[in-house]
Amino acid sequence: MAKMWAGRTDGVIDKLADDFNSSIKFDSRMYKQDILGSMAHASMLGAKNIISSKEANTIIDGLSGILSDIESGKLSIDYTAEDIHMFVEQVLTERIGDVGKKLHTARSRNDQVALDTRMYLRDRTDAIIQKIIELLSAIILKAEEHKTSIMPGYTHLQRAQPITFGHHLMAYAMMFLRDIDRFKDLKKRINICPIGSCALAGTTYDTDRRFEAEKLGFTDIALNSIDGVSDRDFCVEFTSACSILMMHLSRFSEEIILWSSWEFKFIELSDAYTTGSSIMPQKKNSDMAELVRGKTGRVYGDLIGLLTMLKGLPLAYNKDMQEDKEGVFDAADTVDMCLDVFAPMVATMKVLKENMKLAAQKGFINATDLADYLVKKGLPFRSAYKICGQIVGDCIKCGKVLETLEISEYKKYSDLFSEDLYEDISLETCVNKRISEGGTSPESVQKQIDFVKGKL
Ligand code: ARG
Repeated sequence: MAKMWAGRTDGVIDKLADDFNSSIKFDSRMYKQDILGSMAHASMLGAKNIISSKEANTIIDGLSGILSDIESGKLSIDYTAEDIHMFVEQVLTERIGDVGKKLHTARSRNDQVALDTRMYLRDRTDAIIQKIIELLSAIILKAEEHKTSIMPGYTHLQRAQPITFGHHLMAYAMMFLRDIDRFKDLKKRINICPIGSCALAGTTYDTDRRFEAEKLGFTDIALNSIDGVSDRDFCVEFTSACSILMMHLSRFSEEIILWSSWEFKFIELSDAYTTGSSIMPQKKNSDMAELVRGKTGRVYGDLIGLLTMLKGLPLAYNKDMQEDKEGVFDAADTVDMCLDVFAPMVATMKVLKENMKLAAQKGFINATDLADYLVKKGLPFRSAYKICGQIVGDCIKCGKVLETLEISEYKKYSDLFSEDLYEDISLETCVNKRISEGGTSPESVQKQIDFVKGKL
């Protein structure tokens, strides 16, 4: 069948080339945005007397019928069409006759596709923000529950200082809070209306771009028509925010996987979010967390794909840009899926705080506090640090920990040591005394929780 753009050519295109060229397999998901955009366009054309108001209404009614028929399943997408824009226009003209052919006045598919993609991503951004909020709520709940549960904090994956599990969780809360901020911020740049840029140069018709933008809920219009049709920064930004979010989820996943291992045994995931092995009967694998970690790679791929596709493009529209959609759609779908399993996985995980405490007791993680004890008694920190290092080294040799080393032994290193050191190096003291803002004491953690709650 000849294309709607037949004219210059006969519009008959080789079958393989036609399939290659077509984007309807992936852009059909924007049918609603395409139709709503077209309705606003028709109404602008009518308001500006570019077409009569009767014609505008006929077009709008036709479009609204198409929308409800697609939604009810009465009209199915024809995947042999070139793209969703052509499909909708074609069905419209079949249904209402020649007046349907007036819809594309003062418009091009170049500004139309930019419009649809912006409207689509705007909605996806809102939905992602909502899902991050759900995850944050699960994290905060767990953090509050465990603001006094002591665990080893790590640097270099070596036990470093005692912290609380609540404090550790709140570090993730801060990341996800920034993610929300990032999506909210980029939405401002998505929400700029390109329609009316037409092919690239604007139009000779007396259009009202702001009328259309306002009707569709945009905050402003693209101020340069060439930029209007060639800008895909918003796709890059969206995918970039998805990548950063995935990086956060992936780091969290990595810890969940480690914590679930027999070597750590800090948490146990609910059966609902684990799998077994087909051969090893004892296995309980953290597949969901592993998949989130794995899928992070594909979202980075989506971002790099987009950036690479755009880097050499001359202005304005080039067909290369049709390749933007699969990347952003994949990033949005992946993030959605990951958030969907992540929030309940966190909400249902069992925290084995006795094991965390046990691990915290074994790694000399109160050595800094022992040094601080000597500082309190008047020794310069560097000297205190050296003495405590020697004590730790000797303890390891004789199989003791700081809590079990006798006071008589301590006194051999410095006569500043006395019985009250044991109180200072107890893990509870180490944690409770870290009251600095952002620190690990339960009251500091509660402040962090309250802060995030306030933001939500
Ligand atoms: N399917 C196309 C895309 O996604 C729509 C724009 C086509 N424009 C053009 N000049 N051929 O980019």
